[in-house]
Amino acid sequence: MTHFPIRDGVMHAEDLPLSRIASEIGTPVYVYSRAALETRAREFRAGLAPVAEQSGREPLLAFAVKANPNLAVLRILANEGYGADVVSGGELIRALAAGIPADKIVFSGVGKSRAELILGLEKGIGQFNIESREEGRELAELAASLGLQAQATLRINPDVDAKTHEKISTGKAENKFGIPMVHAREAYRELAALDGLSLRGVAIHIGSQLLDLEPLETAFAKTGQLVAQLREDGHTITHVDLGGGLGVAYKAGEIPPTMAEYGAMVARATEGWDVQLAFEPGRVIAGEAGVLLTRIVRVKRGGNGPPFVIVDAAMNDLARPALYGAWHDFDAVEPSGERMTANIVGPICETGDTFARDRECDAVQSGDLAVFRTAGAYGATMASSYNSRGFIAEVLVDGDRHAVVADRIDPAAIMDAERVPDWLD
Ligand code: LLP
Repeated sequence: MTHFPIRDGVMHAEDLPLSRIASEIGTPVYVYSRAALETRAREFRAGLAPVAEQSGREPLLAFAVKANPNLAVLRILANEGYGADVVSGGELIRALAAGIPADKIVFSGVGKSRAELILGLEKGIGQFNIESREEGRELAELAASLGLQAQATLRINPDVDAKTHEKISTGKAENKFGIPMVHAREAYRELAALDGLSLRGVAIHIGSQLLDLEPLETAFAKTGQLVAQLREDGHTITHVDLGGGLGVAYKAGEIPPTMAEYGAMVARATEGWDVQLAFEPGRVIAGEAGVLLTRIVRVKRGGNGPPFVIVDAAMNDLARPALYGAWHDFDAVEPSGERMTANIVGPICETGDTFARDRECDAVQSGDLAVFRTAGAYGATMASSYNSRGFIAEVLVDGDRHAVVADRIDPAAIMDAERVPDWLD
């Protein structure tokens, strides 16, 4: 069910016409639905019910903060009982500020700095997912020097092709993530013996926007074998983190697995593991909960192709199409019923600033409002200020009320942080 329905000819976010948000706050602007976030968070938990039942333990659901780090979004998920998967000190501080308890925070990432490891230790986070022997040794040493024990898992690279875009695949041998399966036992043996480290299990994450469960099931099977081997080696394995990665439908015809199918597969794959499981969903929770609301600046006749629909949003606001060739549905806020074929572009001075080529879409003209759908994950968070465009606002809708949950940051405010040294005069 969409939380951005057309009602009385106007697209709404829940019960609020998007045209009202545009006139009150301006465009471009990200708009999130509270109900959509809550619904997805609950569906994900419900999908994993067979896993909770089978293992006799509630899994830890750690929202991948990178997908949407807005404080209000994190607060909604905190209220739903979610923890957080963070990949930087900045994300860690956000998760805590949003009210996510430290013991529900998992710290992932190949390049955690010393300062970030110390921050995690001092805040008492629930789990570090260690990505190399080098990081494990450093964490152990830091924890021991602070008189602490770092709770940790070892992230494994299972060498599985997630069959997704190459830039968001993370579990193949050539990717930088995790420890290769062949070195896992040896690495585990070394790190488990270190003071300061309480190594208690393994973690994996093979990629994002997965529309097929098969690569995940293969990776989970390899993880299960490793858990058995590690136990044979005498280790006590109590925790396994199965990562995130479940995809969403960006485009008609894309059919992601349902939460129930995912849950059934996980239950099958993890039967008998006898561990506390953790998951790190991002996109599947937040993707459909947001749109990027934009206004058409003008429609320009094309050279020998379709017209250019020039919108006021650009690749700096929503980077996914330029970066990954990603598809986001483009729909008019007040559709006339007419259709057109268009090249949908932003105002930035490079050809990469193209949202869609030869796209069949609602007919729009200068001044109309439109949305890029499914922009709640990896949208605002990947913005830049390229072309000195600043950062756009984010709005949360709840029924017929709304709140600005991130202010627009004007180019002038960014300029304020810059200095011209007086020796240039
Ligand atoms: N856990 C780890 C360790 C990750 O690296 C990621 C995503 C997640 C969890 C969450 O994955 P999700 O459930 O959202 O698929 N910017 C790209 C996506 C990059 C994802 C990287 N890692 C995009 O816009 O498609």
